[in-house]
Amino acid sequence: MTDKYAVIGNPVAHSKSPLIHAEFARQTGQDISYTTILAPLDGFRKAVFGFRDEGGRGANVTLPFKREAWRLVDSHAGYASDADAVNTIQFIDGRMVGHNTDGAGLVRDIKDNLQYPIQGKRILVMGAGGATYGVMHPLLSEHPDRLVVANRTLDKAVSLIAHFRKFWNCAPGGVSAQPYPQLSGAQFDLVINATSAGLSGTMPRLPDSVFAPGALAYDMMYGRVTPFMQFAGGKAAVVSDGLGMLVEQAAEAFFIWRGTRPRTAPVIELLRKA
Ligand code: ATR
Repeated sequence: MTDKYAVIGNPVAHSKSPLIHAEFARQTGQDISYTTILAPLDGFRKAVFGFRDEGGRGANVTLPFKREAWRLVDSHAGYASDADAVNTIQFIDGRMVGHNTDGAGLVRDIKDNLQYPIQGKRILVMGAGGATYGVMHPLLSEHPDRLVVANRTLDKAVSLIAHFRKFWNCAPGGVSAQPYPQLSGAQFDLVINATSAGLSGTMPRLPDSVFAPGALAYDMMYGRVTPFMQFAGGKAAVVSDGLGMLVEQAAEAFFIWRGTRPRTAPVIELLRKA
């Protein structure tokens, strides 16, 4: 019997997850279906339980429901415990286990696909919303030299780093929160844009000298060239969008559900051509 999976979001019609999981299933010979479920903004809970009761084996959760999913599941596994957000649900005997594969997907894209080691590096993460919560623990697990979270609203960055206090010792050079203007003079090897500023065609103001020689500028957004990517390209940084992260987080979810790890490179290539 075909095992049923879905992504639940609002909006969700644009999601590339059905295509990605169909490719993974074809590649690994797994008999699954994967659809989209549009949940009303106040109807996430009903959508999840409805899908479970129809025999769903697992679901991905996308905006704006990741935090609600974290509160709804019966237990958390892996990075989900600290992320305060769940993007992958596994239904096991009627119970829901919540995972967060976003951060693992980001780290895998940076290390394996872009061949950029994180250990010992100076990292700047821009933004202190849900996207940053999802990647903090996985990034710190790579033992960077230091990690700075910059945010327009400083208080949010301060609370965010405090939330991850127990992992501060992973970065010998320190974990700190800073407003953008205070970055002048500092240099980073890896700059990650986790803000939603690109959606409105803007970016937080960064000092010209923020990229160390050979730095990687990573935008979690995909499907468009953002002002951050343009800015970084003009500074001779290596620039990447977040398409690889999207495919890698899906591969992590597929592995959790099916116990087999699909090859991601051909799927990333396919999406780039699409
Ligand atoms: P998500 O949960 O998807 O990360 P969010 O919680 O709304 O979304 O967070 C979006 C992040 O992008 C925030 O860090 C936000 O900064 P503030 O906390 O100051 O609002 C950041 N952001 C969005 N637009 C921005 C802009 N034009 N300039 C700077 N930061 C921006």
